[in-house]
Amino acid sequence: MSLLEIGGLTASYGPVQVLHGIDLHVEEGEVAVVLGANGAGKTTTIRSICQMVSTKGSITFQGQSLTGKSTSEIARMGVAHVPQGRGTFADLTVVENLEVGAFRRKEKNFSSDYDFWFGIFPRLAERRAQLAGSLSGGEQQMLAVARAMMSKPTLLLLDEPSLGLAPIIVQDLFQRLRTIKDEQGVTMLVVEQNASLAFSIANRAYVLEAGAIALSGSADELKNDDAVRKAYLGY
Ligand SMILES: Nc1ncnc2c1ncn2[C@@H]1O[C@H](COP(=O)(O)OP(=O)(O)O)[C@@H](O)[C@H]1O
Ligand SMILES: [Mg+2]
Repeated sequence: MSLLEIGGLTASYGPVQVLHGIDLHVEEGEVAVVLGANGAGKTTTIRSICQMVSTKGSITFQGQSLTGKSTSEIARMGVAHVPQGRGTFADLTVVENLEVGAFRRKEKNFSSDYDFWFGIFPRLAERRAQLAGSLSGGEQQMLAVARAMMSKPTLLLLDEPSLGLAPIIVQDLFQRLRTIKDEQGVTMLVVEQNASLAFSIANRAYVLEAGAIALSGSADELKNDDAVRKAYLGY
């Protein structure tokens, strides 16, 4: 059984269907990426898993169906979502954002967690008392990841973490995501437009085109595929 299994998934906004029968799975401990251009349906795929959009088809997490569950129930089950754009509370400080992220945990003393995440993201340590809204885009993205990880999720969903960030910041962020993957063993599903970044972290990859899976395979297979290279890697 895969940690996450999606079969025949369709999703619609009102009368407009934007996902047309997606099959994908994510195995425990791996990083799966969904590559796709603007408008391909990447965000909708993530929103479908969190049941923030109306879906048909099957979505099972640890053998349990997610369809029909509330978004907060899905979060409590261990699925953390870093949404596209801003995944932080602008009016809360860095530390307060981390504290909010720990909502589903029973213990109440998180100082060793803060130390751990400030070790992974030292720039956040220097800004621990600063309001999230006053951080740079890259710092906010780092905080969004750390906040999501504070819940100790089983599955981390990342919606285009590279969006709107300078290349050097993005390289740094992905390097830290690889550290999190290696050290925390958290399973991730990452949707990305930037293929070379996505392949730098992925075990499994899917190419999404116009709301349907066009290609899938191991990251190694896909990054050496001629069509993928030409369309997404530019060589
Ligand atoms: N709230 C919405 N209402 C109507 N259509 C939407 C909405 N959000 C996205 N769409 C449409 O769904 C399609 C897929 O969008 P999205 O999942 O955001 O793609 P991506 O994240 O890959 O850029 C696009 O055609 C987009 O215009
Ligand atoms: Mg998107």
